[in-house]
Amino acid sequence: MNDAVRQPRAHVTGWGRYAPAQVLTNKDLERMVDTSDEWIVSRTGIRERRVAAAHETTASMAAVASLRAIRTAGIDPDDIDLILLATLTPDYWMPSTAALVKEAIGNTRAAAMDIAAACSGFVYAFATAQAYIASGIAKHVLVIGAELLTRFLDYTDRSTCILFGDGAGAVVLSASDEPGGALGIELTTAPQGAYMIWLPAGGAKSPPSAETIARGEHFIRMEGKETYRFATKTMATTALESVRKSGLQASDIDLFIPHQANIRIVEAVAKGLDLPMDKMYVNLDRYGNTSAASVPIALAEAVNEGRVKIGDRIVMVAFGAGFTSGAVTVEWTADPARGRAGDAAVSADDVQVRLPVDWDSVDPIPPALVELMARPGSVEVPLDDVVPGEPESAHSEVHA
Ligand code: ACO
Repeated sequence: MNDAVRQPRAHVTGWGRYAPAQVLTNKDLERMVDTSDEWIVSRTGIRERRVAAAHETTASMAAVASLRAIRTAGIDPDDIDLILLATLTPDYWMPSTAALVKEAIGNTRAAAMDIAAACSGFVYAFATAQAYIASGIAKHVLVIGAELLTRFLDYTDRSTCILFGDGAGAVVLSASDEPGGALGIELTTAPQGAYMIWLPAGGAKSPPSAETIARGEHFIRMEGKETYRFATKTMATTALESVRKSGLQASDIDLFIPHQANIRIVEAVAKGLDLPMDKMYVNLDRYGNTSAASVPIALAEAVNEGRVKIGDRIVMVAFGAGFTSGAVTVEWTADPARGRAGDAAVSADDVQVRLPVDWDSVDPIPPALVELMARPGSVEVPLDDVVPGEPESAHSEVHA
């Protein structure tokens, strides 16, 4: 191909994550609904999940993860041309949560928008960012997955409230003429699954009212078995299609970063691809299902734990409500060591999302959780996302 028409490639140059400090364990949930640690671990693999504090929102968690990714990339927040934020739990219907994040990270230039594809949202946003870069419209794109799901759960429904948690992850995708970066991408949408995972009220079809709230229609509903069937059928084929479009085979892939919904689903994907489980990155035991945040949190952790090196081929693959699914194959080109410093350089305390002037704030943590966490036996653990051994003084650099 003629050099003049060669498209820029999208490389991951930055990555970061944020997990709220408060841990909700299976034992905690035992005190709330008729469940057991043994049932949850054996059916899902989940041991604990994080719960956002009252002052935290999807935008605030997203902003911390984003600044960490930007610091890892070694660029300035104002170098970002486009902000794409995947979420099913935006702070508001409008404005977009991406707009709030743009302000919170100190960017003045970027276009910002949210992307709604549920748990596949981050992969959808990544694919969109890749297209902006390949077309030459954007040089640096911030791609975020952020969720505050614990405020949309029915804590009397044991089949859903045990699954989900809060958090955020982000990457910076940057244009480059070097080989590598994003390779094959596969996205699917199967609307026959539209009502398998859904949140009935609050939208135009059923605006919020006292009646919809009384009926609990503002909570996530799910047909677990149907969703499980879709996930196990779709994840492996979506991943394989992305790998095939990259001119590769499953055996060429060094690490899969699957959506962290259920260990049994991840095991089924490994089996479907005829690969050992050590090729699958798993952290759902510590975070549960964080929907659109799950893949970027897992990616950032995998890289920071030394599971990814330059030249590795990795596949991020997700499924979610819609039903949607998506996979992207990436040849890794960034120095993995940069991530830990990027994480340590940004403290959550440094990041503020502006509130409206007439805001009459109420504690947004669901009453069932407030009560549970107030009682003796609730678990408070230190924030694990500040990297041990990093100097304290590095924390406030981004806002200096
Ligand atoms: N504790 C104890 N028992 C429970 C619990 C619980 N938390 N939840 C359900 N049960 C019971 C059920 O009532 C049922 O009892 P019964 O046999 O007396 O009727 C029994 O356990 C078995 O229930 P199943 O629903 O058949 O359990 P299953 O093995 O299918 O596991 C699960 C349920 C974990 C939800 C599984 O179906 C699953 O993971 N599905 C996929 C969900 C998912 O990944 N969703 C995320 C989608 S991504 C997005 O876009 C949001």
